[in-house]
Amino acid sequence: MTDETQQTADPRSEEPIVETDVSESVAGTGRGGPTRTVVEARDVDVYYNDVQALDGISLAIPENRVTAMIGPSGCGKSTFLRCINRMNDLIDAARVEGELRIRGKNVYDDDVDPVALRRRVGMVFQKPNPFPKSIYDNVAYGLEIQDKEGDYDEIVEESLKRAALWDEVKDKLHTSGLDLSGGQQQRLCIARAIATDPEVLLMDEPASALDPVATSKIEDLIDDLAGEYTVVIVTHNMQQAARISDKTAVFLTGGELVEFDDTETVFQNPSSQRVEDYITGKFG
Ligand SMILES: Nc1ncnc2c1ncn2[C@@H]1O[C@H](COP(=O)(O)OP(=O)(O)O)[C@@H](O)[C@H]1O
Ligand SMILES: [Mg+2]
Repeated sequence: MTDETQQTADPRSEEPIVETDVSESVAGTGRGGPTRTVVEARDVDVYYNDVQALDGISLAIPENRVTAMIGPSGCGKSTFLRCINRMNDLIDAARVEGELRIRGKNVYDDDVDPVALRRRVGMVFQKPNPFPKSIYDNVAYGLEIQDKEGDYDEIVEESLKRAALWDEVKDKLHTSGLDLSGGQQQRLCIARAIATDPEVLLMDEPASALDPVATSKIEDLIDDLAGEYTVVIVTHNMQQAARISDKTAVFLTGGELVEFDDTETVFQNPSSQRVEDYITGKFG
């Protein structure tokens, strides 16, 4: 990994350059009002070898809000999410062009260490992926590999509370994370992701492998997390996007971003016929 040998820079050192206004009327989330931009894409293209997966994506993701990415399968939602924490670096065929700024600093600059970046930008995947370790050790894992100082017992408890899992596991912290239900495992993965206190949480269809009750718990949790984190969630469930997000980005086939606006606007008054056809279920 040549990445490890690069100099590190704290991308937080540069101030945001764009203000975002999230309208007061956002879907009853109570998170309206102006906020700063945390993540900003500028004309991002991604190719896998010669095949283009994203075409000229520009958008600004607001701080402490939930931004949903929707669109049919294969339109590049996961690819875009992986641009934000440079997970595409791990895919040999992938090439990213354009700028992806976090608080004004391009994460593709030579002086950004992707490992340090991924500490600031946590990720939760579709399939819950707890380690074959105890519940406690799953949550403490990131702290250990980062040699973080602090009271691990306290951080583990706090993270499990924030992930709305504490009450269900507090008496069995030293049993295997793999013995939990799917929904609990996903909340454990969220606890693991937030234990190291990232600024941005990326979630790639975090509830699509879960039953409706577990899904509803994850949705409530995401709503709570937005108070403290900037959440970017991919979902192919449009009702879910409408329920939980403040901003919605609609990607369509060809890797194009066809609409990005307040969630209410996207769902009630989309700007293009293609988006209206998609959200009313005419295709996708
Ligand atoms: N590792 C990869 N190698 C080659 N092509 C890929 C890879 N990952 C995704 N793609 C292609 O990029 C396009 C976008 O995929 P993806 O970002 O996974 O879409 P979505 O998450 O919206 O379903 C698809 O055509 C997919 O086949
Ligand atoms: Mg995907």
